[in-house]
Amino acid sequence: MGTYNITLLPGDGIGPEIVSGAVTVLNAVGKKFNHTFSYTEADIGGCAIDKHGTSLPQETIDKCLASDSVLLGAVGGPKWDGVPADIRPESGLLGIRKALGLYSNLRPSILKPQLKAASPLKDDKLESGLDIMVVRELTGGIYFGKKQRAADNSWASDEEKYSREEILRIGKIAFETAMIRQKRVVSVDKANVLESSRLWRETMNELAKDYPEVALSHMYVDNAAMQIAINPAQFDVIVTSNIFGDILSDLSSAVAGSIGMLPSASLGAGKRGMYEPIHGSAPDIAGMDIANPIATIVSAAMMLELSFGLLEEARAVNCAVDAVLDAGYRTADIMSEGMKKIGTKEMADRIAANI
Ligand code: IPM
Ligand code: MG
Repeated sequence: MGTYNITLLPGDGIGPEIVSGAVTVLNAVGKKFNHTFSYTEADIGGCAIDKHGTSLPQETIDKCLASDSVLLGAVGGPKWDGVPADIRPESGLLGIRKALGLYSNLRPSILKPQLKAASPLKDDKLESGLDIMVVRELTGGIYFGKKQRAADNSWASDEEKYSREEILRIGKIAFETAMIRQKRVVSVDKANVLESSRLWRETMNELAKDYPEVALSHMYVDNAAMQIAINPAQFDVIVTSNIFGDILSDLSSAVAGSIGMLPSASLGAGKRGMYEPIHGSAPDIAGMDIANPIATIVSAAMMLELSFGLLEEARAVNCAVDAVLDAGYRTADIMSEGMKKIGTKEMADRIAANI
């Protein structure tokens, strides 16, 4: 029996609908297991630009810092394409990651047997299943490096820089994660070209000595992209930089069926994390009650497990998702022949009813 304060950052596009779906499920968990989840909402992204003139108001940071954990929908949309780079919706997202010190981003891709048909890969590539955990560095690298542009716009540059400390701390997360999985880490870099990648590789090798049970190997990012597409079963944990992780996690989620299914957890030194679906704000379908809320719902399950230590409760959410999929219910993005198509709200309600 516990009380947990959660800051909700619904954001833009489909964000409010999918976050509301996750709240429905969290409330069902609260009822079943006797916990109290209390919610505070705050603005981030485009809606915050409209209301406050910035994509990340100080009040939002303060509310997140005062809560036990944060659940985010999505940010961005064409409406804000023209706004200056430093106040774009995306900079609000990067800003909150930095402000909360969330340097490690866990992005699991699992192929659910019910959704095999939704994967773009042929059956023979999926025989051995697919269960990849991308551990992405989240507060360093080129995303946060020095940005420059010539006054006459004749050039612009972004800097990819990693300190040994930054590599060590994300590496530790990857090795610890591997210890409770298959004990295999593939570190992805571009050490044949980039100096920052060479330091990355050396540091991972050094760290590996502390984890003799874990098999560490290295892969160049171009090859890693190809390997995810042709033989995803070979991967257990992938650890990589901010930008390579951004790219490879979209790929690993797509091969698992739909980007609408996959959660993520962003963590720092403490227990507070930020949990969000890995997909975007899908402005084209916003407000239509057709978005898939499952990625956000299973992100909430990751919150239960990783921030609150509520393992049984997290399992109940994942089982409820499976039960609804087993019963043949699908949102449009994962619809296949013979299944029953339902909307965002009904999907969330059905999952909540199965808790
Ligand atoms: C993600 C997104 C963000 C990122 C964007 C919206 C800034 O693509 O979470 O993967 O690049 O980190
Ligand atoms: Mg991305």
